[in-house]
Amino acid sequence: MVPYPPPDEVGEILITAAEIEQRVAELGREIAHDCADQVPLLVGILKGSVLFAADLMRAIGGPVEIDFMAVSSYGDATESSGVVRIVKDLDEPVAGRHVILVEDIIDSGLTMTYLLEHINAQGPASVRTCSLLAREGQQAPEVQLDYLGFEIPPAFVIGYGLDVAQRYRNLPFIAVYTGE
Ligand code: IMP
Ligand code: MG
Repeated sequence: MVPYPPPDEVGEILITAAEIEQRVAELGREIAHDCADQVPLLVGILKGSVLFAADLMRAIGGPVEIDFMAVSSYGDATESSGVVRIVKDLDEPVAGRHVILVEDIIDSGLTMTYLLEHINAQGPASVRTCSLLAREGQQAPEVQLDYLGFEIPPAFVIGYGLDVAQRYRNLPFIAVYTGE
């Protein structure tokens, strides 16, 4: 049997499954509190946010809907190029809705900045931003995050939705990627 994950590609575990579970529960309570009279629409950004968005939705407890967008940023695997292209748009109109954009990680902030503009142009009642992770020393333009799970040091990370070339999304923790 080939070991999975390969031990030489998974480095230090920065955030354990238990820590993720606890933080997602806190964020869910916070969002439920802030959305007391609303039915928020979570917009998960495929594919990295899938695990986070699903767990967050359960943690919210109150009424909540979910939709997904897929974007691709041109460039190689471990660096964002800053050019964002929409691969899958929203299924339903967001005019008048209370939208919460749900990302896996904010690096340069360019993906989130682009999506904020895209949603804002459609006349939502409000737009808020939520990311599981943000990398310290984030580049301009600065994204205002309404909800943040964890700040992480400037290493490339995998697990809990985050990938390298589509792999490692199913790891239950966030770890430093130590492969090529
Ligand atoms: P940004 O547009 O530079 O903020 O990049 C955000 C996107 O880059 C995220 O949605 C991820 O898909 C990807 N990304 C950035 N850093 C990592 C990482 O450490 N692991 C996996 N994906 C990452
Ligand atoms: Mg990705």
